[in-house]
Amino acid sequence: MPLPRPPRLTSRRIPRKFFFILLLLLGPICMFVLFTQYQKVTYFFRPLWDNPPLPFEQIPHYYAENVSMDYLCRLHGWSLRPEPRRVFDGIIFSNELDLLEIRWNELHPYVTKFVILEANTTFTGIPKPLYFATNRERFAFAEEKIVYGVFPGRISSYGSNEDPFKLEAEQRIAMNWLLHQAGISTGDLLIMSDTDEIPSPHTVKLLQWCDGIPPILHLELRHYLYSFEFPVDYSSWRATIHIYNHRTQYRHSRQTDVILSDAGWHCSFCFRYLKEFVFKMTAYSHADRVKRKEFLDYSRIQKLICRGDDLFDMLPEEYSFKDLIKKMGSIPRSASAVHIPAYLIENAEKFKFLLPGGCLRSRG
Ligand SMILES: *[C@@H]1O[C@H](CO)[C@@H](O)[C@H](O)[C@H]1NC(C)=O
Ligand SMILES: *[C@@H]1O[C@H](CO)[C@@H](O)[C@H](O)[C@H]1NC(C)=O
Repeated sequence: MPLPRPPRLTSRRIPRKFFFILLLLLGPICMFVLFTQYQKVTYFFRPLWDNPPLPFEQIPHYYAENVSMDYLCRLHGWSLRPEPRRVFDGIIFSNELDLLEIRWNELHPYVTKFVILEANTTFTGIPKPLYFATNRERFAFAEEKIVYGVFPGRISSYGSNEDPFKLEAEQRIAMNWLLHQAGISTGDLLIMSDTDEIPSPHTVKLLQWCDGIPPILHLELRHYLYSFEFPVDYSSWRATIHIYNHRTQYRHSRQTDVILSDAGWHCSFCFRYLKEFVFKMTAYSHADRVKRKEFLDYSRIQKLICRGDDLFDMLPEEYSFKDLIKKMGSIPRSASAVHIPAYLIENAEKFKFLLPGGCLRSRG
């Protein structure tokens, strides 16, 4: 029995001209959408191209306990200064109170001023408590060095087009002003990093005591997720140290081609309480971004933390982890608490959630 003839493909009936006209119409529309939504689109895709475009030139980093500063400087091809540079540590603070305590305790002996800017909204325009201001007594040990500023954020209404880049840029400008208030001047060292990107004390000491260091230097930090029990890799590169001059602008991106190896720690999502994870997961996304409610289930979050597993697509900037964890599965647990911040070891009981075997969190 002969099969019925298949119907002619309908597309054959549409004249080529139609596609041509469609293309002519769609092209400009796409361009228009791309133009008006550019910030949103680039923000969403930022992690895809916000990688260093070129590999860095690695500066070998030498350190051992009890070796003289003069010898260390010379090992790097630098020379000992008659006196150390002043050091300014500039951070834009969100809610990482425990890491701030660790950071400031580690760096306290070397830092002249701790310059800290805190906004009362997130950079996506959602109101945020002033966590530092309300916990300031916890940082009394550093009080005489603290220069604190509040950035008045703007609340963006649901669905509005508040541009996170613009708010971030405004906060960096406010930071430049605050650094000026703190008395920074040409020749001082300035650390530009997030709260959770902690240069090791010996790195800061080396750079403040040696002449001949590059004027801008990225810091290669060992990257951890949730705690020092889950070392990921050495991929963290955004933190920088600058020899300050009048043209220096506070930034948190690729600024030069040289990077100092093994210069500290970057502990992402290293929170004490489950509620802090939830804050970080929700406060930076508008309601339309938090797709499924069960993402915020505390026991689910707890399980993922203890497995060193991915906490899902929380934030665009955490897509790097997502890819990584997809590739290699959950992060292998480390039983080493060697070469981590000394303050953590000295206060092991208080910070046991950041140490091997301490993955259980309370709700807070
Ligand atoms: C460090 O050096 C000092 C003197 O420079 C010495 O007294 C001390 O024993 C050394 N410590 C270690 C651990 O080698
Ligand atoms: C943030 O601070 C500014 C200045 O103090 C204030 O006008 C504004 O209402 C505050 N915004 C929020 C969300 O608290």
